[in-house]
Amino acid sequence: MIKRKAEVEVILKKYGQEHLLNNFDKLDDIHKERLLEEIENIDFELIRSLYESTNKKQKKEVDKIEPMEYLDKFKLNEKYKYYENIGKKAIKEGKLAAVTMAGGQGTRLGHDGPKGTFDIGLDSHKSLFELLCDSLKEEGKKYDVTIPWFIMTSRENNADTIKFFEKHKYFGYQKDKNLFFFVQGELPMIDTEGKILLNEEGLIKQAADGHGGIYESLVKSKMTEKMKSMGIEWVFIGGVDNCLVKMVDPVLMGIAIDKKVTVACKSVVKANPHEKVGVFCKKNGRPNVIEYSEITDEMAEATDDNGELLYGESHILCNLFSVEAVERMGANPLPYHVAFKKATYMNQNGEIVVPDSPNAYKFEAFLFDAFGVVDEMAILRVKREEEFAPVKNADSAGVDCPKTARDLYNKFYHLK
Ligand code: UD1
Repeated sequence: MIKRKAEVEVILKKYGQEHLLNNFDKLDDIHKERLLEEIENIDFELIRSLYESTNKKQKKEVDKIEPMEYLDKFKLNEKYKYYENIGKKAIKEGKLAAVTMAGGQGTRLGHDGPKGTFDIGLDSHKSLFELLCDSLKEEGKKYDVTIPWFIMTSRENNADTIKFFEKHKYFGYQKDKNLFFFVQGELPMIDTEGKILLNEEGLIKQAADGHGGIYESLVKSKMTEKMKSMGIEWVFIGGVDNCLVKMVDPVLMGIAIDKKVTVACKSVVKANPHEKVGVFCKKNGRPNVIEYSEITDEMAEATDDNGELLYGESHILCNLFSVEAVERMGANPLPYHVAFKKATYMNQNGEIVVPDSPNAYKFEAFLFDAFGVVDEMAILRVKREEEFAPVKNADSAGVDCPKTARDLYNKFYHLK
């Protein structure tokens, strides 16, 4: 271990991160090994460039943003059946799989555990995972197939998620046959001086690297390889927090296949100009999404000649990709978005510090930043009441909360 430690010290010196070993001697052997391994795995060049990005002034050149064309599912007329038949054939042939991004915790909902294990308060008391699974099984039956299900967890919630599935007998799925778990990536958090933080255990303070890391994680964990060996050509990627998410949609698939696009996304009309959703657009001529936190009021409120919002196609995290596109996206690093957060850490004297204001940078990649990599992409406008019931906040917020999701769910399934 002495030799290994000496090698690590050289790297740390090069990048000005020597403090990471300040408390080394106080750790037990297991933690010592883990810390060294974690440090060996850090991409210090990346961390340096991420830190530099936090200091950068606003970019001078302004991106050219334009509205993006879409198809309306309910105005396809005779083409509806045409696309549907193409999609149905591919689904029956077992070419579709679903991926659920479930790396998040239920903290914002006041739930102590993985977000997917949250019970939104339906009479059945089913968790989000079970509601999603019910819909997958129901759809699979229509085509006489089992839709393979891939679940992305985070290091933080992986064990709890798998335990939950085990307890519920995988809701009728079979682990490692048609149900697979893989863990998303993480990045160290840094302070305002660019120093990497240690966590309460004296190990590297890591945070999930955002769902933009999904492509790389799918490739690195060999899930794309598995998909190909199973004959899967298309993969629907959605969030865990939409209890009406429709993961199996022959019309969406038919459009993607017929139009030979590698990504096809669903949208719903924005409920109001300031709804907290990203909107589809073209950025410098390439498909993209502008996040709600980044759109200007002027853009959010702009309307066309018919009075419709110019940027009114909401991104609802319902996106279909060809497996080949996932692999291509996994090979190209995405830009990281930076967030300034409160992060408890161990200081240089080995004391735990709980800050009362933000003290650390967290870096996240967004899945839709990869859309610019594809040449063509299709957007299908669907009905909000049929496909979008997000659960983001506690009931006190009044929007996108368990109550609103429950009402939408009950209404859609005619339960109340
Ligand atoms: C997200 C979208 C937004 C969209 C809205 C629709 C982003 C950046 N924005 O906003 O464009 O209009 O949903 O509901 O995604 N997740 C992980 N790992 C991560 C981060 C997120 O698995 O590291 C999963 C979460 O478990 C969840 C989903 O991704 O299922 C959405 O993440 P969240 O951070 O809640 O996004 P929103 O801010 O709601």
